[in-house]
Parts: sequence; C-alpha cells; structure tokens
Amino acid sequence: MSITNPANQMKINAAKAALKFVKNGMTLGLGTGTTSSKFLRLLADRIKKEKLKIRGVPTSKGIEFMARSLGIPVVFPEGVEQIDLAVDGADQCTKIALLKGGGGALVREKIIDYAAKEFIVIADESKVSRVLNNKTVVEVLPFAYAFVKRTLKKFGLKPKIRMLDNGNPFISDNGNYLIDCEMEINDAEKVEKWIDGVPGVVENGVFTRFTRIIIGTGKGSYELK
Ligand code: 5RP
Repeated sequence: MSITNPANQMKINAAKAALKFVKNGMTLGLGTGTTSSKFLRLLADRIKKEKLKIRGVPTSKGIEFMARSLGIPVVFPEGVEQIDLAVDGADQCTKIALLKGGGGALVREKIIDYAAKEFIVIADESKVSRVLNNKTVVEVLPFAYAFVKRTLKKFGLKPKIRMLDNGNPFISDNGNYLIDCEMEINDAEKVEKWIDGVPGVVENGVFTRFTRIIIGTGKGSYELK
C-alpha cells in the first residue's frame, strides 16, 4: 500500500481536474514545477491508454527532459501555430492574479501560458491567498542587474539576486539572473506592466491573464472564483 503525502495529493487532485480539459489532437503548453510534473505524469498515462495525439511545448529545460522521458512528443514555439491549452502551477494565487517564478522558469512560462488559447492554473490549497504578498520574481539581463536592482529598491521592493548554495548567481534557462522581491501587490496589472518597463528586465512573475484556477484539496478540487 502506498501512502501519498497530503500536499502531493492536493497537487494530484488539481492536476486530475485539469486533465479533463485535454482533448485528442491538442498542442499543450507544459508548465514547470512539482504540480505541473504531476500533471505531466497523468497526461503521459492518458496518452498511452487512449492513444492520444498530443504535443507539448515545454516551459523549461527540466520539464522538456521529463516530457521526453515520459514519451510525450515535444515541440517548440517555432514549430507551433497555436497552443490550445497551457497547464501550469503557481506560487501564490488570488482570484484575479498569480505569482510565479519560484522555480525560475517565469519567462518561458509567461510566453507559453499567455500565448495559449486557454491557460489553466493548478495549485494546492496552500497557494490561495487574499493578497499577493509572496516573492515577486524578476528575470533580468546580467548586464543590467545592478541598475534594475537599484530601481526596484528605490520603489521599496527589497530586491535580492537569487543565489545558488555555491555562492554563484542562479542562471535561468535563458542565461539571465533572477531578482526576488518582497512586496505586497494591490494592483497586479499595474505592477506587472511597471516592472516590465524597467530597462534590462526580461519579464516578471506577476501573471494577470488566465482562463481558470483549479485548487486541489485533500478530497478533490474546486475552481477559485
Ligand atoms: C516555476 C513556477 C512554478 O509553477 C511555481 O513555482 C509552482 O511550483 P510548484 O508546483 O512546485 O509549487 O512558477 O517557475
């Protein structure tokens, strides 16, 4: 008998609910993170069982590797006309906006998630909040990081370059640095646009466009409305 820990079960339940939106022939955006990984495993099982023709556009090198090892055909933006559905996790979510980028994949995630016809967010109950006050992640060109950091600090964001245990900066799949910021967000759309307007910023982890948010609980799932 295998016992799944409660947090994992919530993630699996959110992933299961999102899987119901997958149809044969779809091109899917494949999110990054532990919740998205659960979705990927369930998707791979369904593809095999139902002999579905599905292609996945990965949002990180990590999830690309996992998709390939599970036998899910992988395709990149240049080979795709339309992404039908993206399924991706979140670090924190309210009814109207999310924070992402804990895993450092926010740039490719935003490109794929926003390009998709539908974007379903999957998260466990611990991610739900009334206000966005978790880390806001900003991906920045290494050349510009000092300027960007100074600008973010001037506006009270408490920016910190993400570091590895070996003392080197974390490098994203795109070869950039990440700046983790502490702040409370009241107007997510305004903050998303404002941060992207700072020269040297590639993208930020405030997400304001999605189709639905599915929250996994210990017993099932519900839509955050
Ligand atoms: C990666 C992300 C992830 O979706 C986010 O960090 C959630 O991850 P998890 O499902 O492991 O909690 O934005 O950049």
